[in-house]
Amino acid sequence: MTTTSSPLTQDELKAMVGQAALRYIAPGDIVGVGTGSTVNKFIDALATIKDQVRAAVSSSEASTARLQAIGIPVLDANAVEQLSVYVDGADEIDGHGYMIKGGGAALTREKIVAALAQRFVCIADESKRVATLGQFPLPVEVIPMAAQQIARRFAALGGQATLRLKDGQPLVTDNGQHILDVHGLRITDPLAFESAVNQWPGVVTVGVFAHQKASVCLLGTASGVETLT
Ligand code: 5RP
Repeated sequence: MTTTSSPLTQDELKAMVGQAALRYIAPGDIVGVGTGSTVNKFIDALATIKDQVRAAVSSSEASTARLQAIGIPVLDANAVEQLSVYVDGADEIDGHGYMIKGGGAALTREKIVAALAQRFVCIADESKRVATLGQFPLPVEVIPMAAQQIARRFAALGGQATLRLKDGQPLVTDNGQHILDVHGLRITDPLAFESAVNQWPGVVTVGVFAHQKASVCLLGTASGVETLT
């Protein structure tokens, strides 16, 4: 008799990489924690070793609430000079560890916490792996009064920016700002692109993580966790 194994669901792949990220946590660590459904699986896994975790620095109100619910103290980023590790998901990741992030609107705090960490561990299911960034609409956090001029700058690059809505109203980030999602870009030089867009007045954070790229990516695949460095 032959049996066929059913493929893992995306949720199971996320749980697998969330669990695998525990190997990067050392006893007594203060852990940098990202945001999103994959990170939620990591937080679930962290709950199983919470007595070994001194504290966390979180990238969103949502992750803070989850961390506190499992009994992990959350520190202000200003209270920490350095983290050994930051664990977060991605919307896209390429072969260099460059990423698009911000699908969960937490990109600014994610970049801030990632900048404190010596190592960025990206956890993602295999659907996030791309050859060139840009298929996923690029999130950009903006000061509301600059949204239209920033949208025009993207149009000049061939991108179409739309204001992200929630319940029919502009989504307001944890920082009180808005998000543009930019469709139609092909980002062939992520480092230069991130530097250039960061200079535009009114841009709070662009969702290209090239200067804060992943040091390692744990990619959930049908055949297990692949470690990409
Ligand atoms: C939130 C993010 C997330 O890491 C990204 O959107 C991936 O989310 P998920 O794990 O739910 O697919 O950048 O701002």
